[in-house]
Amino acid sequence: MKALIFTLKVLGIAGFVVWFAGCYPTDQSKANSEGKAEIPALKPVSDTAWDSLRSEGKLIVKETFMALSSELKKAIQEGGVPHALGFCNTAALPVTDSLAKVYDVDIKRVSLKNRNPLNEADAFEASLIETVSMLGVADLSMVNMLVRDADDFPVYAQPIIVGESCLPCHGSIEKDIAPANLKLIRELYPDGKAVGYKVGDLRGIWRIRFNTKSSL
Ligand code: HEC
Repeated sequence: MKALIFTLKVLGIAGFVVWFAGCYPTDQSKANSEGKAEIPALKPVSDTAWDSLRSEGKLIVKETFMALSSELKKAIQEGGVPHALGFCNTAALPVTDSLAKVYDVDIKRVSLKNRNPLNEADAFEASLIETVSMLGVADLSMVNMLVRDADDFPVYAQPIIVGESCLPCHGSIEKDIAPANLKLIRELYPDGKAVGYKVGDLRGIWRIRFNTKSSL
């Protein structure tokens, strides 16, 4: 029961889904006995701050996603996927950073299979991604989380799901990514790992860190 209450506080998803989430994160012994790296415990945010931070996090993700995807669409229309790859390379982080300034938060898109080294999930962010992937939820667009990081700043997290439109740049290297585009990706990101995804896969998470602890 304690695990369920904790999970309810962390996850903002439909009630029936929450039951399946009950095995995490309090049941860490299982993960450890399977030899996986230890997952840091997730700390919930207080009830009073929950609603306002969660809706603010949701809104920031929506706005940032809309800004990025409209710029991406424009770049594809202007010069196809190669031009858009160049756009993502130079403009994705400045776009997220400028919205972070507007909202006075820290915005990141992080992944366990990142393309840009700056988007590599750290241990805490990896624990958020692991939590989401362990839910076994068919529709991850319903899921979001609100927790505190190691320094007690509130963090809002929301899954990033792969759709059709992502495949020319993140899909199968045999089927979806044109050889010339793959070459360009390899040139821009020699150590990039962000290919091989299918529609519906978890690509990573939005990680919004609020800059104030005062409302906790
Ligand atoms: C035109 C090619 C292109 C398309 C289409 C595209 N991406 Fe990307 N994506 C990139 C590039 C290039 C980067 C690296 C950006 C950077 O250097 O900051 C990236 C980075 C990301 C990241 C940050 C983590 C990382 O790996 O660095 C996420 C998350 C992501 N993309 C998700 C998506 C999703 C979801 C879609 C579909 C809705 C999508 N992308 C469509 C090219 C693309």
